[in-house]
Amino acid sequence: MNKLANFSSIFIANWKLNGNIQFIKEYYDKLITNPNNCTIICSPSAFLSFLKNNNKNLFTGAQDVSIYQEGPYTGELSAKMLSDISVSFCLVGHSERRQIFNETNKDINLKSQNLIENNITPIICLGETLEQREKNLTKEVLIKQVNESIPNHSNHENTIIAYEPIWAIGTGLTPTMDEIDEVHNFIKNIDTRFRQFKVLYGGSVKSSNSSQINVLKNVDGCLIGGASLKVEEFNSIIS
Ligand code: PGA
Repeated sequence: MNKLANFSSIFIANWKLNGNIQFIKEYYDKLITNPNNCTIICSPSAFLSFLKNNNKNLFTGAQDVSIYQEGPYTGELSAKMLSDISVSFCLVGHSERRQIFNETNKDINLKSQNLIENNITPIICLGETLEQREKNLTKEVLIKQVNESIPNHSNHENTIIAYEPIWAIGTGLTPTMDEIDEVHNFIKNIDTRFRQFKVLYGGSVKSSNSSQINVLKNVDGCLIGGASLKVEEFNSIIS
């Protein structure tokens, strides 16, 4: 496992279902990482073994993993397989997986356990819908997600949390800076065991708002979707 405490911030590119070999070549030619920060590129699984992984501050991440370890599960990829190809991190429970593929907190907990057992750090995604926010249910939703999706043997060195309000993903909308800081502080205090966890913010992060977000006391980095597909934009976020 990587020593997460060694990095001042963690930046994750979530390419989702985008990219091809030519895109990756050009992207890595232009990518400029900052040695103080941890940069993780989460590409579609098909490209994971092509990604450069320098084991210092640039890492490869998957976007999902199977709840199963092996057997008759056509189409699945196990944590052990990801570990065999030097994947160090894996997104788990992204809201698109929760909403489109009906993933439950229980699935996310199992996936995260499999990853930790294979020395891969799960990045466990949490966040409320707009409807839940409008009904003042954000904290209630987060408590349930944290308690049910984070395995008992997770700790601040083997697990990362990403707070991504669903209504902020791909919309250009974000909570206010005070709201982001308050929610991150809330997550870290749901239980004393989460106090030292790295909590990243995701949802419409771009170069024009990333430094404001990243300096917040309780924010330990960002998870970036759309803006991570443009390498110049991603460079300016992580610089
Ligand atoms: P966005 O996506 O940066 O395009 O809002 C974030 C994510 O889905 O992780």
